[in-house]
Amino acid sequence: MTKLLAFAGSTRNGSFNQAILTVAAEGARGSGAKVTVVNLADYPMPLFNEDEEKVSGVPENARAFKQLLTEHDGFLIASPEYNSSYPALLKNAIDWATRMEEGDKPMQAFKGKTAGIMAASAGGLGGMRVLVVLRMLLANIGVTVLPAQLAVAKVNTLMDNNGVVTDEKTIKQLKNLGKQTAELTMKMTAQVL
Ligand SMILES: Cc1cc2nc3c(=O)[nH]c(=O)nc-3n(C[C@H](O)[C@H](O)[C@H](O)COP(=O)(O)O)c2cc1C
Repeated sequence: MTKLLAFAGSTRNGSFNQAILTVAAEGARGSGAKVTVVNLADYPMPLFNEDEEKVSGVPENARAFKQLLTEHDGFLIASPEYNSSYPALLKNAIDWATRMEEGDKPMQAFKGKTAGIMAASAGGLGGMRVLVVLRMLLANIGVTVLPAQLAVAKVNTLMDNNGVVTDEKTIKQLKNLGKQTAELTMKMTAQVL
């Protein structure tokens, strides 16, 4: 069974990006993928520092996150846009996951994997600009990023008081992105086998 790991670049309580990620994950499940949604809050990591890595190695949580990525065929990633780019939280987690340890293959957590990317913001662009740089980053570490993507603008107007996305059109778009990511991942996995 094709396995997708879903994570967001925000650990904020009531994160808009966690909310849209959940809907995309449902769409991917509807296509037969097994989707595991994780919160980076459960994997706190120090800011990457090569000197500290030399002394202490890869920290336990960073290794656990890398292991999770490695065990999955593809990813669903929802990222906030911070000053037109991705938050340090997301980049730091990705940086740690690219570090090689004994027995690892180069870029094993990412190479040959697929990703569907999305963003959400209360602003009018929905975080469209972060998707440009996130797509580039992922491609540069060996991930095939689904051509379709979604930036959900004014997301705060598309959810209920519990932070659940309720707007039908948005739900449809998010589920479709999840579905397409699952389908691409299934095709890519079949090619590798
Ligand atoms: C440092 C910082 C920079 C931000 N820059 C942008 C931006 O460039 N574009 C945007 O749409 N929102 C920007 N925002 C607002 C975020 O979209 C908003 O905080 C959003 O809720 C974060 O996603 P989350 O709800 O998943 O935590 C910024 C927020 C912070 C804290």
